[in-house]
Amino acid sequence: MTHAHNDLPLDETSRDALASTGLAYAQLDVSDEAAFDRWLQSAYRGFHFDGFTTEQLAEYRAGFGAARVIEVRDETVAEPEHPVATVASWRSPVSLGEGRSAEAWAISLVSVASTHRRRGIARALLEGELRAAHAAGLPLAMLTVSEATIYGRWGFGPATQVADYRVDTRGLRFTVPLPAGRVHRVSAAALRSLAPGVAQRAHERTAGEVPLDDLHWNLSFALATRTASHATKLRAARYDDAAGEPQGFVLYSVAENDADFADHTLTVEYLCAATDDAYLALWHYALDHDLVNTVTAGLRPVDEALPWLVSNPRAVQTVARREHLWLRVLDVPAALSARRYAASDTVLLRVTDPLGFAQGPWMLATDSDGVATVTPADDEHSHTAAVIDLGVEALGSLLLGGTPVDALRVAGRLVEGSPGSAARLDALLRVPRAPWLSTWF
Ligand SMILES: CC(C)(COP(=O)(O)OP(=O)(O)OC[C@H]1O[C@@H](n2cnc3c(N)ncnc32)[C@H](O)[C@@H]1OP(=O)(O)O)[C@@H](O)C(=O)NCCC(=O)NCCS
Repeated sequence: MTHAHNDLPLDETSRDALASTGLAYAQLDVSDEAAFDRWLQSAYRGFHFDGFTTEQLAEYRAGFGAARVIEVRDETVAEPEHPVATVASWRSPVSLGEGRSAEAWAISLVSVASTHRRRGIARALLEGELRAAHAAGLPLAMLTVSEATIYGRWGFGPATQVADYRVDTRGLRFTVPLPAGRVHRVSAAALRSLAPGVAQRAHERTAGEVPLDDLHWNLSFALATRTASHATKLRAARYDDAAGEPQGFVLYSVAENDADFADHTLTVEYLCAATDDAYLALWHYALDHDLVNTVTAGLRPVDEALPWLVSNPRAVQTVARREHLWLRVLDVPAALSARRYAASDTVLLRVTDPLGFAQGPWMLATDSDGVATVTPADDEHSHTAAVIDLGVEALGSLLLGGTPVDALRVAGRLVEGSPGSAARLDALLRVPRAPWLSTWF
């Protein structure tokens, strides 16, 4: 059953817009298993996955069953019982670091059938999601994206980055003393029940993290039917602190080089650390394997401490870097006052939002504890405030502190009222570590 707190009313404007082109926009009754299966098949077909088994469908129904599941139907197609467009959404916290979080509307599985693309269906779905979330008082919407070209037009901005690393471990030494706890080699299945609790503590330290549901955990642990064939390859290790408390874990696999048995590659699939000690111990464990010359890790933070932990920083190559979590501000005072700031100052933010939700001049005033007061700016003529003009998508990019203010200034995505305003905003937004989302949703 759709969880009651995700049960936002259907957006009438989008329903009317789609109805005017002969399409029916409706919330799916997720207790109708056959209809939910067709919805899942249509949604994943949009991402070129077309082979769900009955067992997999049951797992995905359970995974998305609490979400608000929306379909668009076209009664004129050959198989009208299959939706021609899908979206699923739910309330979720997004971490702001330092144990703080904001509530956001998570949007997922946006897909439009290839027979129905480029006629405004995604626009109706996205605007419908944003209006519903705004009406429900949610300060943010968020998504992870298949293509970085799509969502800026609806006011989403890239808010976290990820990097993929490749480490040449030949002759590499770890230069940091190892912590007092222990790394235990464990089975992935045994580790599974501990993972959400450890991850929750890890996420509290890291702005940008979003909790995973059981389906996604089971997929990562090769315990879902769709990933079960990986179970024989998946390895796991757990770090317990000196008191025996689990503080982190790593999931990994090792691939052989047919031509050279001493040249395996170890892939870190997920490394989760709730403490610095767990981080050090687990990376040491991953890098310190005989017969392995290469360690790779994807979807990692861009400011990974790894190059600083080893004798040869150049052995740690960043092979790719890209944006990952996209944020859309719906309520400026609620979104901006949820986080803490690095300085005490006053900034007038003049936000442009074509959809209206974040539009306006807003005064962001922070005190010496980093606590913000955000109010509509009725007097824009404060002589002491820094002044910044920006679009709502730039505000989404800046919120977690992961986007260089000066880069947005150079790119013309924010304009300072007078020289120095961007530097003052930058000083406010600075965060101790790059925001990071370690998963997809
Ligand atoms: C991406 C997708 C949902 C777009 O659906 P659609 O109904 O064709 O989109 P719309 O017709 O409503 O287009 C709305 C706007 O987005 C643009 N757009 C749509 N898809 C785009 C893409 N892949 N890249 C860049 N722009 C895109 C359109 O040009 C249009 O621009 P404009 O109105 O601002 O001029 C659809 O192509 C799809 O299902 N793709 C495969 C699955 C996927 O990648 N989904 C996104 C998951 S994050």
